[in-house]
Amino acid sequence: MCGIVGYIGNHNSKEILLKGLEKLEYRGYDSAGIAVKNESGVHIFKEKGRIADLRSIVDENVDGHIGIGHTRWATHGVPSKLNSHPHQSTSGRFILVHNGVIENYELLKRDYLTDVSFISETDTEVIVQLIEKFVGEGLEVLEAFRKTLSLLHGSYALALLDAKGDDTIYVAKNKSPLLVGLGQDFNVVASDAMAMLQVTDEYLELMDKEIVIVTKNEVAIQKLNGEAVQRNSFKAKLDASDIEKGTYPFYMLKEIDEQPLVIRKIIQTYQNEQGNLTIDKNILDAVNLADRIYIIAAGTSYNAGLVGKQLLESVAKIPVEVHIASEFGYNMPLLSAKPLFVFISQSGETADSRGVLVHVKELGYPTLTLTNVPGSTLSREADYTLLLHAGPEIAVASTKAYTAQIAVIAILAEVAAKRKGIEVNFDLIHELGIAANAMEVLCDSKEIIEIMAREFLTGTPNCFFIGRGVDYYVCLEGSLKLKEISYIQAEGFAGGELKHGTIALIEKGTPIVALATQKSVNLSIRGNVKEVVSRGANPCIISMKGLNMDEDSLVIPEVHELLTPLVSVVPLQLLAYYAAIQRGCDVDKPRNLAKSVTVE
Ligand code: F6R
Repeated sequence: MCGIVGYIGNHNSKEILLKGLEKLEYRGYDSAGIAVKNESGVHIFKEKGRIADLRSIVDENVDGHIGIGHTRWATHGVPSKLNSHPHQSTSGRFILVHNGVIENYELLKRDYLTDVSFISETDTEVIVQLIEKFVGEGLEVLEAFRKTLSLLHGSYALALLDAKGDDTIYVAKNKSPLLVGLGQDFNVVASDAMAMLQVTDEYLELMDKEIVIVTKNEVAIQKLNGEAVQRNSFKAKLDASDIEKGTYPFYMLKEIDEQPLVIRKIIQTYQNEQGNLTIDKNILDAVNLADRIYIIAAGTSYNAGLVGKQLLESVAKIPVEVHIASEFGYNMPLLSAKPLFVFISQSGETADSRGVLVHVKELGYPTLTLTNVPGSTLSREADYTLLLHAGPEIAVASTKAYTAQIAVIAILAEVAAKRKGIEVNFDLIHELGIAANAMEVLCDSKEIIEIMAREFLTGTPNCFFIGRGVDYYVCLEGSLKLKEISYIQAEGFAGGELKHGTIALIEKGTPIVALATQKSVNLSIRGNVKEVVSRGANPCIISMKGLNMDEDSLVIPEVHELLTPLVSVVPLQLLAYYAAIQRGCDVDKPRNLAKSVTVE
């Protein structure tokens, strides 16, 4: 969701900015723009659509040693050239890019800017106009910037250029992610390290309500009150090849294929020298002290949380509730006496989850984040972090983070159980290894799954997924994948629930994907399939070896019954992928979606 880049140094910035924006494409956006400053002033190029569209309108003769760039995901005002960033103050002197939402922008317009004619419908334009107003009233640029920030309510990551002033990029952040990258005779600004890995792997983390004055040779961090802040830089541990597609047509396919490897990496990372699974003692204490765990997450991470509940309850015997982050804030359940809040988030930046984190921290409860992104907001702000080690996930549709989340929770459940003296009657390392091999088998079955997608999903307006027990949770994830990238309306249901209403939607040919990986409910889910088939549905049954029957479309290898989601989700991810390809959809960048959802 919205991305920011900036460059100041000895080189021309235009290509660096455009390449940086391309690396931020995965976050989701609907328009983009850059501003470059040179001796003749600041030149702004903006366009609705993709970075390729922006490239096509950028004047090849214009360049400059300072610049800022932005990808916009519309919140205030439609996606359009006019609403895209950078935004300019009326005189043209100040140029700004912004990520986040200014909640009080209408109030600020009314209180300070009644005489200003706004060009765009955005909240962002208020910020740049305020800076101009305060400079007009006699403040230095930095003071005007500071005063403006003190008036803003909401979230922001900002980069500001002054067309008339010194060669400086003014930067600030609150709740939205932003980093400053360091180089020899240059410095950069970026929403994430991936964007600027092309020029540096050394970064400075920024905290909320900090201002940074970035010149080509210096980076000065200050608190809002002007007090200087010293901070060590860190090396972004990213391999450039991790963020390249290589020979894959789409990142999503690459990331699906990476899943067995990720599971093996997780096993390795969480193993100690004696070969046992291990988790930070403080985290185990927090888990074992809790009388109830509250998992908070959104989307795919929520779906992984449902599987996680099953694992934690059956292995570690801890009661678990799973909540949708965006609901929890307004609809808080009666809490237990000693809760532990566990936030599951691939990006570690989801604003809905962060809202809950801030709230429960104020209430004094312990918090743990499971995330793929070290140093992300949720990781920094929680008491403890468990990392997913899935490597960068670029496709908007989450795949390898989902299976990594389940694997890490399985490890947490096993280690917590053993520490409490609860007997665990299976060898998790061995079972995860078997699951990784089974995932590999399914990744190698792409041709069959492509044919299944053609057979069951061609031309259909909708598709239902049914399962019982943990299969139901995987159905929720399978249906989310299908709807988000192929735009087929898809829903997941508990097998027994269809007859209570949804069965009315079954018509001749309606595709029903049924999962049958759980022995205890194998016959009942098959009974549910019969109910819909007798009403005309076209069933696609995916079962597990040992439970399979003649009519099944695909049989997954046998794995431990608690770990079936790691494996059964793979054909569902691939079904969604091929359905999207067959419909000509842009798999990695589905419409209206963003990778990192930084607004509530
Ligand atoms: C779906 C998807 C989203 C995210 C959700 C939460 O494929 O990716 O549903 O799971 O936006 O994001 P994170 O996990 O970053 O908190």
